[in-house]
Amino acid sequence: AAGLTDPLDTAARPRWPPQTEVRQMTALDRRPIGVFDSGIGGLTVVRALMDRLPFEDLIYFGDSARVPYGVKSVATIEHFTQQIAEFLLKRQVKALIIACNTMAAVAADVVRQVAGEVPVLDVIDAGARSAAQVSQQGGIAVIATPTTVNSNAYARAIHHLRPDARVYSQACPLFVPLVEEGWLDHPVTRLTAEEYLKSVLVEDVDTLVLGCTHYPLLKPLLQDVTDNRLTIVDSAVTTAEATAVRLAELNLLNPQRGMPNYQYFVTDIPLRFQTIGERFLGRSIRQLEMVKLG
Ligand code: DGL
Repeated sequence: AAGLTDPLDTAARPRWPPQTEVRQMTALDRRPIGVFDSGIGGLTVVRALMDRLPFEDLIYFGDSARVPYGVKSVATIEHFTQQIAEFLLKRQVKALIIACNTMAAVAADVVRQVAGEVPVLDVIDAGARSAAQVSQQGGIAVIATPTTVNSNAYARAIHHLRPDARVYSQACPLFVPLVEEGWLDHPVTRLTAEEYLKSVLVEDVDTLVLGCTHYPLLKPLLQDVTDNRLTIVDSAVTTAEATAVRLAELNLLNPQRGMPNYQYFVTDIPLRFQTIGERFLGRSIRQLEMVKLG
């Protein structure tokens, strides 16, 4: 709330207001978790967080006016990402979750810089960890947006954890619009998936990483197209798990067992936003607010 000092931001602010006011601040563990994405896709991560951490308050930020990020340059994505991280830090979040694979691929360092002591988790770190663990033979396919694939972030993260891994990446730019169109089991999507996956399926892979917020919605179709042969890593679920573990380690889990509060901020509310968003989230969206950044 306005006027309260953020103890996580000691360098930037004077030692003010006096102690009495400081004592009224929300305890660290009762603060919300900030989750952000380029648009509504990150709601797949929010959904997984709601399931895994049902007592945590969440603030979601979706940059719906400037989506998609997956085809933008690194400098632009860094700039936008910093604005979003700062917006959430001002709302005193206890952790930041980069739900967007593209932002995690090229701007995770920017977020960690502005976050200071606030823990930052991201979908690539969690997805890479899970893939390195579950792959039997080390052959791992990663599908993602063009910017994520170009950054090589997944391959780097996986190799770091498992140097013997063979990582094959494929950009799937048509998946984002197809998912937003709701064509989750449409012949066009099936054909597109078959075409995209051709190049990775000729390799000896046993694991498929869904390296984009939108792809978890295509999981049944992708399982089908790959004849259920591959272990699918859904980075939404693995990120929620990693968040639960990290917050527990840091003693930051909310001790209260009340109804959690969910707030959603977006930079635009385009046509059908609510419908599409609720498909990603699997429940209704209340407390939706439009804000301007920068
Ligand atoms: N959120 C993006 C990702 O996970 C997909 C949408 C976009 O391109 O902005 O990569």
